[in-house]
Amino acid sequence: NAQKTVTINGRSYPTDSWYNVSSTVLSLTSRKLHLQKDHPVSITRKIIESVFPGPTYKYYNEFDPVVSTHENFDSLGFPPDHPGRARTDTYYINQSTLLRTHTSAHEAQLFRENDTGGYLISADVYRRDEVDRSHYPVFHQMEGARVWDRRLVPNGDLVAAVYEDLERLPKHNMTVEDPNPPFHPERNPLQEGHHTPEEAAAIAAHLKRSLELMVNEIFTRAKAANVAAAGGSPQQDEPLRVRWVEAYFPFTSPSWELEVHYNGDWLEILGCGVSQQHVLNNAGVPHKSGWAFGIGLERVAMLLFKIPDIRLFWSQDERFLSQFRGVEDDLSKIRPFVPFSKHPACYKDVSFWLPKDEFHENDLMEIVRDAVGDVVEDVKKVDEFVHPKTGRKSMCYRINYRSLERTLTNTETNEMHDRVVKGLVAKLGVEIR
Ligand code: PHE
Repeated sequence: NAQKTVTINGRSYPTDSWYNVSSTVLSLTSRKLHLQKDHPVSITRKIIESVFPGPTYKYYNEFDPVVSTHENFDSLGFPPDHPGRARTDTYYINQSTLLRTHTSAHEAQLFRENDTGGYLISADVYRRDEVDRSHYPVFHQMEGARVWDRRLVPNGDLVAAVYEDLERLPKHNMTVEDPNPPFHPERNPLQEGHHTPEEAAAIAAHLKRSLELMVNEIFTRAKAANVAAAGGSPQQDEPLRVRWVEAYFPFTSPSWELEVHYNGDWLEILGCGVSQQHVLNNAGVPHKSGWAFGIGLERVAMLLFKIPDIRLFWSQDERFLSQFRGVEDDLSKIRPFVPFSKHPACYKDVSFWLPKDEFHENDLMEIVRDAVGDVVEDVKKVDEFVHPKTGRKSMCYRINYRSLERTLTNTETNEMHDRVVKGLVAKLGVEIR
């Protein structure tokens, strides 16, 4: 096994016993939806780029998804026992090489190399996860950061320099709620010895305004699309509301998530914060300080275009792709996606006894995806019990088979379900009930 290699985007890598990338996921590493012209993921990238203009911000859209565990975790201060490192959550090529789980994997490199003060990265990222209409093992993120060099700011006054840059940003008229104190003693302390409270506050203020402008741009475009689709009559929708919520990341402090009020719910769309000085110090730029954020592009695109199922982004069906043609060069052409007919769902249950070993739901999810591809809409646990005498554990999962493109026949669905069941027996060693 140690001799085997895998080729990704023209480069080959040695695999070892840590290798856990399914062939389905492997085949998606070359798709790069964020660079496919007129694809909704690419259009969303363009909108976000427009809010962070050059020459202050420089764009990096071609980084390869294969990175080291050092880049993805250690360089950012993830502790050795962080759950995100588990093989049940992350796709490994070998023990020290993986498919990046987030665009932050490139932070240290760009803090070291980028000299314009800011950057944006867009890229495909990979996570083992559940199966439903908003999760897919490959998705796209955009990461942005802005730093100031203490040696270059006038009079060494970082606070004044940051506020001066903030003054130059446009204003907006969204309602912003920011109810929590900026610091938390354990989770989000002031980076004592690196920043004064005034410096952290200035960087945070610049961060928040920048990201509010981004969200405002996205939702203004979404609103215009809805108005145009409704024949130009302005609707009576509520004003856009957003709020800042305290969050935790090993590489920012203080940290926040930004939530948007959408269809009666608060929806988290990005994570961000004041970059931890250890990341910049280890990147060899201890004289720089600043902020960073990461946003999921599919999530934003689903709101912007009203796309109901994340599998659609991977569709090569003209009925999907044609709806976005010409939009990337003229964003005023954005319209809500018109779903083509919804095909019937077919639910099938599988019940099994677990072997003694540990069981991770993500392994089951992956076996289902690998056996039937995008024909699975979601997988839900419907029952779980322990036999009172034998102590064995039984699980029951319900698989929803539904193609986005056509109606499945009974025979087809039965065959697919058979493949799933066989996969579970062969790969997880379960005993079917
Ligand atoms: N990388 C984080 C995630 O994927 C998001 C993030 C980026 C948070 C940059 C803070 C700063 O969840």
